[in-house]
Amino acid sequence: MRLMKNASLATLAFMIGAALASSGQAADGGHAHIERQTWSFGGFTGQYDQAQLQRGFQIYKDSCAFCHGLKRVRFRNLAEPGGPQFPEDAVKALAQSWPNKVTDGPDDQGKMFEREPKPFDPILGPYKNDNEARASQNGALPPDLSLIAKARNVEYTGTWWAHPFSMLRDIATSYQEGGPDYIYALLTGYEEPPADFTLAEGMQYNKAFPGHQIAMPPPIAKDSFIKYQDGSGSMEQNARDIAAFLAWAGDPSLNTRKATGWLVMLYLLVTTLLLYAGKRVIWSKIPH
Ligand code: HEC
Repeated sequence: MRLMKNASLATLAFMIGAALASSGQAADGGHAHIERQTWSFGGFTGQYDQAQLQRGFQIYKDSCAFCHGLKRVRFRNLAEPGGPQFPEDAVKALAQSWPNKVTDGPDDQGKMFEREPKPFDPILGPYKNDNEARASQNGALPPDLSLIAKARNVEYTGTWWAHPFSMLRDIATSYQEGGPDYIYALLTGYEEPPADFTLAEGMQYNKAFPGHQIAMPPPIAKDSFIKYQDGSGSMEQNARDIAAFLAWAGDPSLNTRKATGWLVMLYLLVTTLLLYAGKRVIWSKIPH
């Protein structure tokens, strides 16, 4: 009996040890620690910074659009409140001059044809389909960026026992900016691989990308970044602005949602007080 008890204790200890070891490995091998950035749209009351979204769109247009589409965003969305809110004329002109044409049709002869985009068209990338994209990108697929800020997140890399506290803190501070934090870290995360790391042909070392081997060449770098209209700019600023822009692309109604949320809470509070007062009045005449 005693022997069995010892054996099961040993098994338990082994299992805990194995679990700890494997969680340590997962942190090393796959996911890197991602720094959290400060975002104007973070927290309970955050809102997008319109000027930042405008700069972010410029980065998309001048860099990312050479490989990535943004097909769930339509040109006219760029003029709507709560987003970059460019003037409507500018958006019309932008759609007209967009290099990637829209396939429309069929025409009277039953043929499909290409035309210039209009404000109601989606913002298309350079490739007609995923196969064409892969063929010209060495086999790797540059994903559509419309929802990428929602599709990526930051993996927890701390010690296992602190995880619940970290989760509670995220709930208390309403942390939802894992996507933009990751995009910022990805764009600023290119560096020389460590000596013992073997990179496959045509791949880049990136400390934020899971596995650290990415097929995307660095779109911006310390000495080659995109200058804003006023002549300023830096790699970090480019990365922050495009990450904010992609956050908007994936969640365009955040401004109204966060602003209305407070009013709804206030309304519910007042209703609760009124209902309570009403209940007291109604029941006060009934002996109990
Ligand atoms: C020369 C083409 C090219 C340009 C320019 C480019 N990308 Fe990429 N991007 C790629 C490719 C290819 C991949 C797929 C990489 C892979 O799976 O290894 C990718 C992947 C990504 C990913 C997904 C990474 C992940 O976690 O899966 C993000 C986010 C991204 N790019 C953002 C950007 C942003 C933002 C810009 C502009 C600042 C940009 N890219 C410019 C080619 C490009």
